[in-house]
Amino acid sequence: LVLVVDYGAQYAQLIARRVREAHVYSEIVPHTLSVSELAARRPTAVILSGGPASVYAEGAPQVDPALFSAGVPVLGICYGFQAMAVALGGQARQTGESEFGRTGVSVRQAGALLAGLEPTEPVWMSHGDAVTAAPAGFTTLASSIGAPVAAFENAELKLAGVQWHPEVAHTVHGQQVLEHFLFDIAGCTGDWTSSSIVDDQVAAIRAEVGDRRVLCALSGGVDSAVAAALVQRAVGDQLTCVFVDHGLLRKGEAEQVKHDFVDVTGVDLVVAEESERFLAALEGISDPETKRKTIGREFIRSFEDAARGIAGDKGIDFLVQGTLYPDVVESGGGDGAATIKSHHNVGGLPEDLQFTLIEPLRTLFKDEVRAVGTELGLPDSMVWRQPFPGPGLAIRIIGEVTRERLDLLRDADAIAREELSAAGLDRQVWQMPVVLLAQVRSVGVQGDGRTYGYPIVLRPVTSEDAMTADWSRLPYELLERISTRITNECRQINRVVLDVTSKPPATIEWE
Ligand code: XMP
Repeated sequence: LVLVVDYGAQYAQLIARRVREAHVYSEIVPHTLSVSELAARRPTAVILSGGPASVYAEGAPQVDPALFSAGVPVLGICYGFQAMAVALGGQARQTGESEFGRTGVSVRQAGALLAGLEPTEPVWMSHGDAVTAAPAGFTTLASSIGAPVAAFENAELKLAGVQWHPEVAHTVHGQQVLEHFLFDIAGCTGDWTSSSIVDDQVAAIRAEVGDRRVLCALSGGVDSAVAAALVQRAVGDQLTCVFVDHGLLRKGEAEQVKHDFVDVTGVDLVVAEESERFLAALEGISDPETKRKTIGREFIRSFEDAARGIAGDKGIDFLVQGTLYPDVVESGGGDGAATIKSHHNVGGLPEDLQFTLIEPLRTLFKDEVRAVGTELGLPDSMVWRQPFPGPGLAIRIIGEVTRERLDLLRDADAIAREELSAAGLDRQVWQMPVVLLAQVRSVGVQGDGRTYGYPIVLRPVTSEDAMTADWSRLPYELLERISTRITNECRQINRVVLDVTSKPPATIEWE
């Protein structure tokens, strides 16, 4: 276990991911954790992340020097590096030479940390303060114009640090430096793999569930599918999955979930066919938030009905949720079984449904969830599914949701997805919402006649985590094929437009 201490930048998650890419399990902890609490977790190593503060600013988070005599190897990065330098008796201050972005550092002495690096290394920097004197007993390994001490180590004490960000892709040999720390300095072993995750989780779920009953709401997405497949492997037919078909899914989606999933896992699946209920509830509603709330509410009711039908008087003891690690970190972290109230992945389940949650993915990032899905034998079509929002196509129809509009959007969306797949771009594009502007009409000409139809928006985006996104530069030929097919095959659509806005300022979905 490697603990990444979060000093409040967005980099801590990235560091944890890079450590895991080296097959070493890592977790993020807040910087408010005391040294004894840290040590109690028995980490093999600790990494101090970057952060927005200046080490000398009032109230800036400091590192307790006791950490460095706890016998745990430590790597400081950026702010963590400066805080480490100060705590060990070195010096950091404003040099007047801020460095942001791509910077060259001169490697003076490779040491263990920088072994194999070029004399001048391209790295990614982001700092105003710099370490001006390394602590006694430490060797300065590198320097840059803005950072007189840009890296140091004390191999004997297993302590090292870098001013730059080894975790970002722009730092060419970043991963190499992290691995030197993990393996050559800290002595980690890289044996954390998707098969070891599956084995550990299956054993843990079996131990927790015993012979009791488990329920899982399948959304059709990757996370709930992988979570369910893990629980299925652990406890077999003690698990029942419920799939609420709200009629807001894309073409073929409900069938695909049923077939792909049931065929591969053999899971016991109950499909609640509820499209009438959702359409009725959505009648007359155009406001995005009202749509979302209405769908959330109906979802809970449908799920409750199905759960009661399944459980009878015996009740269900456990509920599976596909909560991922970023959700856990963002909601404050913490170990142990959470109660149903603190999560809303299943749309805010009511408090009188008493379950214990099973969240087998709560320590995993998305890419790790996909690897586990593949390990469990789930098909690529399921493991590599692009994200799709819980409220479904309802939030991709701008205006009131009606059956006719849903059918129209479903057809257009199917064409766009088909062409994107045919172009081999499914994995490059994070997702491509197709949006029907049902409140807008424009004039067109088709055959010899004037048309007055709806526009369709294509919203292809690239992203790492959906927090930020950029519009995808799809090839013009592909856009042309999609546009021609949609306007030819979807009678009421006479215009296809492309959304070229990043997130921020826009969001990925239109509602
Ligand atoms: P936005 O539109 O906020 O979307 O940029 C970010 C990501 O979240 C998905 N999304 C949702 N997923 N329930 C979900 O399960 C929702 O209500 C929801 N709204 C947006 C969206 O598709 C994108 O991947």
